[in-house]
Amino acid sequence: MAASESNVRPPMPLGSVAPRVPSPRNPSPSGRLPEYAVEIAGLAKTYGARRRQAAKVALAGIDLQVPRGSLFGLLGPNGAGKSTMINILAGLVAKSAGRVTIWGYDIDRFPLHARQAIGVVPQELHMDPFFSPREALELHAGLFGVPPAARRTDEILAALGLADKADAYARSLSGGMRRRLLIGKALVHNPPVLVLDEPTAGVDVELRQQLWSYVRTLAARGTTVLLTTHYLEEAETLCDRIAIIDRGQVVACDTTAALVRRLDRKTLVIIVADRLPALPPGLAALGGELLDPCRIAFLYQPSRTRVQDLLAAVQAAGLAVADLTTEEGTLEDAFLALTRPLGAAA
Ligand SMILES: Nc1ncnc2c1ncn2[C@@H]1O[C@H](COP(=O)(O)OP(=O)(O)O)[C@@H](O)[C@H]1O
Ligand SMILES: [Mg+2]
Repeated sequence: MAASESNVRPPMPLGSVAPRVPSPRNPSPSGRLPEYAVEIAGLAKTYGARRRQAAKVALAGIDLQVPRGSLFGLLGPNGAGKSTMINILAGLVAKSAGRVTIWGYDIDRFPLHARQAIGVVPQELHMDPFFSPREALELHAGLFGVPPAARRTDEILAALGLADKADAYARSLSGGMRRRLLIGKALVHNPPVLVLDEPTAGVDVELRQQLWSYVRTLAARGTTVLLTTHYLEEAETLCDRIAIIDRGQVVACDTTAALVRRLDRKTLVIIVADRLPALPPGLAALGGELLDPCRIAFLYQPSRTRVQDLLAAVQAAGLAVADLTTEEGTLEDAFLALTRPLGAAA
């Protein structure tokens, strides 16, 4: 953005004791806003063997570029290596090989700068039971060296819907409130990059909507957001770019629209008002399948077939539609589609 580009100042001497806090408006060491908020090249991690456990390759050479300002989804099944990658970014796990740059700062050469540039919300919910939300945020801001006048404790509490719980005992917070407080802690130093590791796993629908909307707000304000999820739907709804990671490797990385186009399959289930002895022949020709006497499923390609055409065909067959649902392809479908050789697509 032109306004922030004009704010660019020359970089601070890198040996400085007090690094300039990287922020969405502050430049990377190059003196410019970085093109990529996070750059990962050849990243590998093998967890060493322990007593009864063999060594485990968690990351097998990851290359990834997260454009500044993007809402980036890291999608993969359990055990894919998502948390390992996030924990390396957070400085919590030591990598075995490769190079990682956060906001232009190499994590090996400038670990403090890199850590100031990123806020990480861990997958595990752990909470210090002795501090109220306000105290927890203040303490965390202190750890990051944010001077009291620059703190945004009240703003963060309000944005996360925790204002009325600001001084409550942490033990009295619900699971959803704790998760929001963890997000707040990741934001105290106003990092340009926010990383959320499975923010909505095990979270109820209402809180999920709240979290999504807050993440969107942050992204709209210029924060680069990287989130991991094993829900295809979540990545598709929220992210503008998605990398699919499986067994420690990136199997696909593209804009959400392009990726979804490559997946291009949905299921429409229509519940009809009457019990059907058999599927009307015209519907079989459209790929319909009778799941039970009242439910017809259509597996279709959204790029080629419109839902309204399927509905029209059902009505033309003289059936009354009582209800309908559509389902996205599953993550398993996504893997199959994306790892299948080119040209093998249906
Ligand atoms: N501390 C650890 N020690 C040994 N193996 C680990 C450790 N953490 C994760 N792993 C293994 O590394 C692989 C990737 O795990 P993880 O990064 O947690 O994946 P994800 O977050 O995608 O579910 C898994 O096989 C997991 O069992
Ligand atoms: Mg994980």
